[in-house]
Amino acid sequence: MTAPDPAALVLGIETSCDDTSVAVLERGATLRAHLIAAQDVHQLYGGVVPELASRAHLELLPALVAEALSQAAVKPGDLTGIAVTRAPGLVGSLVVGVAFAKAYGLSLGIPVVGVNHIEAHLHAATLELGPSPFPAVALVVSGGHTELVEVGGVGDYRWLGSTRDDAAGEAFDKVAKLLGLGFPGGPVIERLAHSGRRDAFDFPRPMLDQPGYDFSFSGLKTAVAMALRARGTPPYPRTLVADIAASFQAAATDVLVAKTVRAVEAVGARALTLGGGVACNRELRERLAPECARRGVAFRVPSPRLCADNAAMIALVGAWALARGEAPEPELDVVASLEESGLGVPAGF
Ligand code: KG4
Ligand code: ZN
Repeated sequence: MTAPDPAALVLGIETSCDDTSVAVLERGATLRAHLIAAQDVHQLYGGVVPELASRAHLELLPALVAEALSQAAVKPGDLTGIAVTRAPGLVGSLVVGVAFAKAYGLSLGIPVVGVNHIEAHLHAATLELGPSPFPAVALVVSGGHTELVEVGGVGDYRWLGSTRDDAAGEAFDKVAKLLGLGFPGGPVIERLAHSGRRDAFDFPRPMLDQPGYDFSFSGLKTAVAMALRARGTPPYPRTLVADIAASFQAAATDVLVAKTVRAVEAVGARALTLGGGVACNRELRERLAPECARRGVAFRVPSPRLCADNAAMIALVGAWALARGEAPEPELDVVASLEESGLGVPAGF
């Protein structure tokens, strides 16, 4: 009798931040189930509250796993492996997922592998578009990250740039807060920007003219705060809100597009892939798509569900590790920071 393929039916678990997500992935290719439970509780506070996030993961995870198995028509005993986000993220949130995965794996007698969340974002598009040509450039833009990475292949990463202060999504969230809008800010800024004028405010394009691939978004947020200072407190007139949203989005995407295109050219990339919640932004997508088309570069953007935090991408990268026969680590520990997460990110990023 041949040994069962550990990647045959993988349960993916993602709890690194404020989304609890579970997926069942068959042979690294077919998503049998994929559930994402957003934690609405954070809206009350205008940002993610770590303690509330871990508690919500704890409450949601067991039911979500049961529901995913039921949707996939899979019994626990059919699972061949478990993939769980181990880094980077909020420690308390990561611990909930990893502890659950270890206990569940132990009870089922199947291997558990820890997955790097950022590595998973780099490859999420593969679930919908199949294998990427390499070298590729990946832009991961979320509430916690702004990473520009050269991807030579699976497991072959070279960090090109990162943010020196706020992440791109954090800037969207903070500007939305300044405008008196809800959390998360990205989708509402994008919606309001449609009816605003992109050139109404001449906001700065931080680091645009500097060489290299690093970003900075806190000055842009401060410029928005300064523009609003003279106009009192929210609620602001609708046209003002729309103009600020459009001008801010134009400035943020100008920098993201310019640096990404610069990286694509320097690397001689055959593909550009996007990941993270900000990759849902239509202006960003619609400006990068023609830049790629003009250069004959494959533009690989997952659907919004796979851009944001999700367990499908964790199951995918975990399935690859399981297929390689990577030994599961009995002491699978969580790591909060990206620099210490073993992905080859140089110090100082
Ligand atoms: O990847 P994600 O779901 O979670 C993490 O932060 O890890 O990303 C959420 C971030 C938030 O900052 C949110 O405002 C931003 O992505 N976002 C967007 C859009 N949709 C979500 N930013 C700009 N435009 C959007 N359409
Ligand atoms: Zn993420």
